[in-house]
This record gives sequence, C-alpha cells and structure tokens, in this order.
Amino acid sequence: MGKNKAVIGCQWGDEGKGKIVDLLAADADIIARFQGGANAGHTIIVDDKKYILHLIPSGIIHPGKTCCIGNGVVLDPFGLREELDVLTGQGIDYRGRLWISPATNLVLPYHKLIDAVQEKNRGTGSLGTTKRGIGPAYVDKVARQGIRVVDLFSPDRLRRRLDYQRKIKEPYLAGSDDERSDLDRTCEELLGMVDLFRPLVTDISRMLYQAHGEGKTILYEGAQGSMLDVDLGTYPFATSSNTTIGGVLTGLGIGVRMIDEVVGVVKAYSTRVGAGPFPTELVDDKGERLRTEGDEYGATTGRPRRCGWLDLVALRHAVRINGVDSLAITKLDVLDGLDEVKVCTAYELDGQRFPEVPLDLARLGHVKPVYETLPGWKEDSTGQTSFGSLAVNAREYLNFIADDLKVDICIVSTGAKRQETIMI
Ligand code: GDP
Ligand code: IMO
Ligand code: MG
Repeated sequence: MGKNKAVIGCQWGDEGKGKIVDLLAADADIIARFQGGANAGHTIIVDDKKYILHLIPSGIIHPGKTCCIGNGVVLDPFGLREELDVLTGQGIDYRGRLWISPATNLVLPYHKLIDAVQEKNRGTGSLGTTKRGIGPAYVDKVARQGIRVVDLFSPDRLRRRLDYQRKIKEPYLAGSDDERSDLDRTCEELLGMVDLFRPLVTDISRMLYQAHGEGKTILYEGAQGSMLDVDLGTYPFATSSNTTIGGVLTGLGIGVRMIDEVVGVVKAYSTRVGAGPFPTELVDDKGERLRTEGDEYGATTGRPRRCGWLDLVALRHAVRINGVDSLAITKLDVLDGLDEVKVCTAYELDGQRFPEVPLDLARLGHVKPVYETLPGWKEDSTGQTSFGSLAVNAREYLNFIADDLKVDICIVSTGAKRQETIMI
C-alpha cells in the first residue's frame, strides 16, 4: 500500500468513509479534509462510543494526530464551535492539533437561509440539499465575493464585505423575519469568535509540504461521494464541490506527488440521500430491508436514505475518474441472510445496453439496470476479521466486485465498530 492515501467515496456519500479514515489514521501523522462542509456526517464507533464528525477530520479521535481543514472546505464557524464543544464533552482534546487554512471560505447563517429558500423555490425540482448552506457558500467563493477565515482578523474588511453581501443578497434577506438574515448580528458574532480561530489558523499548504518533506504520513479525507461531484456526478443533483481526487490538490494546495494511493470506499450496496437519479433503487420491501438492517438514516439530517443494489456501472465511472488503486468495501454484514444478491452490470437505454454511464449523467434517470444475480449467504459476517472466515458466497461476491473493477480490495468492513474489520 502507498504511504499517503486519499480516501474517496465512490457512490453517493455515506459509504463509511469516517470508519475507513479512522482505521487508516492509526498509521498517519496528519489527516486533512479538502472539500465540502458540514453537509458531511462521518460516523466512527470506538468501544461503544459514537462520534459524528461534520467538519473536523475523523483523525481527531486518535490522540496526538494532527488534523487540517483546507481552503477547499466551506466552513460554518458556528457549526465548528458546536462540534468542538461536543468533542470536548466526549473527552477529545483538539488544542494544538487542529489547523485551518486562512483561505477557507465561511458558510454564514444567510447561506443556510438562502439554501432553504432556493430549495423551496425549486418546488418539485428540489435537490434535497442538506440545507447547510453549502451551495450558496461555494457560489460566493466562485463569484469572488466570499468571506474567508482570514477576514475575521480584519474587522473593517469583514464589515465591508458583509455590507456588500447585504446589497447583493437583498432579494433573499430584505424583509425576512428569519434571524439568519440579520447581518449585523452575524458580524458581531463572528468578531466574538476571533479568539477561537486565531490559534487554529495556519498555512496548510506549507505545513503539509514541510511534513511531507520530513517523511510524515498524510491521510486525505474526502466527503460526499464521486456521484455527487459538481463536475463529474449526476449534475444538477450533486453537491457544489469536487468530491473526487482533483479536489485534494486544489483543496489543500498540494502537488500530485503527495498522493501515493487512492482508496475508494464502496458500500456493499447503494444508498442515496436527497433527489436525483439512482438506477438501482429498490422501492419495495427489499429496499426497506436494506434501510432497516443497514440503519440507513442520514448522520447529518436524519433523513431515511434511499437504498438499492450495488451499481458496478457507476462504480466503474468512480474508479476511472479517481484512479482508484484499492477498494475499502463496507457494510458487507448488512447483506447477510439474503437468498440472493443482485449487482447491476450494465444499463439499458433506448433498447441498447451500455457498460458505462451515459455522457449526459442526467440520463441516468432514464436507464434500466441490467442485473447479474449472485447467491446470497446465511452465515453471519458481523465482526469477522479475516477474509478466510467469511462465507464462500460472501467472498465470491467481493471477488466479483474486485474482478469487475480490476481493483484489489484492501479493507472489508463487517460492522460499524473499529475492530469489525478485515485488513487485507
Ligand atoms: P460516511 O459519511 O461515508 O462517513 O458514512 P456515514 O457515517 O454517514 O454512514 C455510514 C454508516 O454505516 C454509519 O452509521 C457507520 O457507523 C456505519 N458503518 C460503517 N461501516 C459499517 C459496516 O461495515 N457495517 C455496518 N453494519 N455499519 C457500518
Ligand atoms: P458524507 O460526507 C450523502 C447530498 C444531499 C443532496 C446533495 C446536495 O456524509 O458522505 P448539499 O447540502 O451538499 O448542497 O446537498 O448532496 N449530500 C450527501 N449525501 N452524504 C453526504 O456527505 C452528503 N453531503 C451532501 O443529500 O442530495
Ligand atoms: Mg455520511
């Protein structure tokens, strides 16, 4: 295995990246988030203690590890403060080991308000966002009118930038009785957070470059999944960042040679939260079974996740666009007890079969999945720690996936807890 690994979700998010990052963090010195924001919900379970991280890298659970939030993230400062309080309450000391880039754009209360209003305005075409203000914050960033962490340290500049926001966001904010529309209040609250931020801000790009030069190991933690990538996913049903490998470089300011291995995280079946095409979705009792057995409810919003069979066509896309080197397959145990397991190996569209996703990913909403049916297994995979102790059919299922994707499996997860894992 390579030294510096990037952990990337290969489906529609919630693949179990948090658990995989937590495992790999044991061998890393630094864990870095490079995109997304508090739309993420990464769950880690250690010794019956549950941690759900939204903005802070999952490595924070490991005492002594350094964690970074890169410029590619959109950071909700109030959410961060809350998360730090929760962590502190859980006995995690982050002081001296959490660092944030000054160039990170802030998600402010009005972004969340606008997210909610825009979703409402979309009516039946709503995207099903997490309403965490992610889209509106990235819009401001790209339009070069965002407010960044560094602005917190220049009150005059902060006020000027917020005044400009007041002007351009008028259609959303003027006349609103929602307290999130009150920019004066936001400004004062932000200025009250300067002391929290000051000791956390550093040049992440330089810090990582130097650490790499000293032979330290860096783990890059992706959020969301490849099919939610704003360029390469099921646009417009996507998030607003590059969730795929390119996001690591631009979101942290590192060179390509600082990534040695791309670990693709794949849930043993598929889930999706929010709207958008999902060819293998099961809207029947089989889907309900996956939701119940897999406890498929959002870690951020609590929404029930849509569930379906594994989609190899979508995964081939994810493997190609990320250059996935190894697979971490999670939630195998959820499939235990099924008579048969289906895998989508091609799509049918207009009477033709396709082994790859259509050029226009919006057409994914019109394809019919072509399934290969594999025998299920009755044996319990939960908590297994060696490949050899899995049921023969479970092993065949895993090998089928690895053969199709032409990528080796490095980890199989057989339960939510840290030790319920097969390291290969
Ligand atoms: P992430 O966003 O990719 O980090 O994934 P989430 O934390 O949102 O969702 C994954 C869920 O599955 C969490 O509740 C995890 O605790 C749980 N989980 C992770 N791996 C396994 C596994 O192998 N088996 C089971 N049963 N649950 C798992
Ligand atoms: P993690 O990191 C699953 C989905 C939302 C919605 C779309 C756009 O836990 O895997 P946004 O709020 O980003 O504008 O919403 O993206 N989404 C996720 N789905 N896991 C996530 O993160 C997600 N983050 C966003 O449900 O469909
Ligand atoms: Mg999640």
